[in-house]
Amino acid sequence: MARTLARGSKLVIATHNPGKLAEISEMLAPRGVAAVSAGELGLPEPEETAPDFVGNARLKALAAAAATGLPALADDSGFCVAALDGAPGVYSARWAGPSKDFAAAMRLVRERAGETEDARAWFACALCLGWPDAHTETFFGRVDGTWEWPARGDRGLGYDPMFVPAGGSLTYGEMPPEEKHASSHRARAFRQLLAACFG
Ligand code: IMP
Repeated sequence: MARTLARGSKLVIATHNPGKLAEISEMLAPRGVAAVSAGELGLPEPEETAPDFVGNARLKALAAAAATGLPALADDSGFCVAALDGAPGVYSARWAGPSKDFAAAMRLVRERAGETEDARAWFACALCLGWPDAHTETFFGRVDGTWEWPARGDRGLGYDPMFVPAGGSLTYGEMPPEEKHASSHRARAFRQLLAACFG
């Protein structure tokens, strides 16, 4: 049995990424938790030293839970390209550099993938709910599709303008947010989290 979070509990959202914070807050809104972000609390951003999404999500959740004495929810996610052996993957944020230039990061994906015929790509998301006693509950979601060039649309975040989910024609940067949020990697991980931990 997963450890659950009571209605009305205070929960730290362990992210400094405003795009993710907006998506996570929206998904938590109906669950009656009092969400406060790591940014608002002035928590430092821990270094993401794990080799995979799950490891980095755990590390971020546990750092925020230890610093605040509250349960904390962290997301580690990224964009993975088959022709690049899954890169940028856990380095998705780092490919955008310190100025968080995702137009440049998307160009880098395009350059490195070159003229390959293999356009398969996916978004992955690990969510970890961590408590001050170091207990964790972890969930994983993935959405498959293709990368396209040129990137299209100005909605969403990060690599959204170059990703088309399987069976669709619009990029995540073009589609209405509700449509992305119905089936994205984050939504898939979130559904599992909500079912297991928000009784
Ligand atoms: P991190 O989890 O903070 O290491 O950052 C993950 C990075 O992956 C983000 O900065 C985005 O660039 C990218 N990413 C994660 N989720 C999405 C998404 O839903 N759309 C587009 N890019 C995403």
